[in-house]
Amino acid sequence: MRALFQQHVCLIVTGGIAAYKAPDLVRRLRDLGAEVKVVMTPAATEFVRPLTFQAVSGTPVHQDLLDPAAEAAMGHIELARWADLILVAPASADFIARLASGFADDLASTVCLATAAPILLAPAMNHLMWRNAATQANFKTLTQRGVRAIGPNDGEQACGEVGPGRMAEVSEIVIAATQRFSTRELAGVRVLVTAGPTQEPIDPVRFITNRSSGKMGYAVASAAQGAGAHVTLITGPTQLGVPTGVISIRVTTAADMLSAVMSNVSDADIFIATAAVADYTVEQPASHKMKKATTPPALTLSPTVDILRRVASQPKPPFTVGFAAETQDLLANARGKLLAKNLDMVAANLVGNPGLGFDSDENELHIVWQGGEKQLGRASKDALARDLIVIIAERYRAARVDLV
Ligand code: PMT
Repeated sequence: MRALFQQHVCLIVTGGIAAYKAPDLVRRLRDLGAEVKVVMTPAATEFVRPLTFQAVSGTPVHQDLLDPAAEAAMGHIELARWADLILVAPASADFIARLASGFADDLASTVCLATAAPILLAPAMNHLMWRNAATQANFKTLTQRGVRAIGPNDGEQACGEVGPGRMAEVSEIVIAATQRFSTRELAGVRVLVTAGPTQEPIDPVRFITNRSSGKMGYAVASAAQGAGAHVTLITGPTQLGVPTGVISIRVTTAADMLSAVMSNVSDADIFIATAAVADYTVEQPASHKMKKATTPPALTLSPTVDILRRVASQPKPPFTVGFAAETQDLLANARGKLLAKNLDMVAANLVGNPGLGFDSDENELHIVWQGGEKQLGRASKDALARDLIVIIAERYRAARVDLV
């Protein structure tokens, strides 16, 4: 859900017409959980006012290498150390040349020189400037030093000419930035995740459901994607945006979720069931809105299929992880589910207390598997999901070694 949660991105904006897209870039990075600090070159301030970046980043913009207030604390070094990623967007021909030559006469170039963080460029310039042998040589020098780039794209330019030099789209830059944080623990592994509640109709306007916002499941899908997995998310109704790079299938009922899971599970290496699937469905939902009567209607319920159990009982099941939502005896119930459903792992959480479990942004997980367990203390669902994926990746690899 928030692939850049608590990641520090130092965005360097250099002079070019594409600078007008950079405020949107800041907004999108922050939506993904990143903390963003903006450095502007003098030329960039001719295109967009620093105040705009201050407003969208929520923090003052850095402009001067020799700002006495900041430099008393070695501001450029602090910024260079603070950053987990230096993103230069747009990266002008001039800035690329200065970076290639190792200049350190302004804040932007000095931060790049003084950092150990990866540097990602989004070049933007006139196509002839981009094609120029000097720019190409500078760019090659930087890529050989490990600097990464996204774009430039081909197309119509601000000057009216056509060719390579357009800055990559903001969405493309965001994906590239996200990939820089990818841990690769699940590189190439196919992960199927269920999330959210299901809704079982009573009539066209009413339904039975379970409490679930989908936050935990979406965070798990995002963390798996961030670890390099190909992720498919089968989600019940939620208000959440699908994490970048994740394929989603929207379902409503438990029966829909079952059918979507069974259609996709044979392609999955790992199955993670975070969904709060309704255990019962209404046997015969009314086809028209039921009228209010003096005596309450009797609903006949029938059990839904336990999707997790069905997956784990396949002849060749994927590495199967269940969740357990409990209000008491967390560990005993989690171990019970591990054995009863023949699972590889269970992530158990206490629900029913405000601030944890359902709906909230935070949770606690107690993870159990055959011969082991690990407690993940209270933290954001994004952070917990990342830790959970690390444990799943370890156990998944161990299980594969056991099979050989
Ligand atoms: O969505 P949030 O607001 O972020 O809340 C997160 C959560 C509390 C919903 C989540 O962390 C969680 O605990 N999900 C599992 C909820 C649940 O239904 O638990 P359970 O103990 O009833 O079910 C055990 C397991 O069987 C779960 O993996 C569930 O997905 C699976 N199941 C249950 C019933 C069913 N018919 N099919 C299933 O696959």
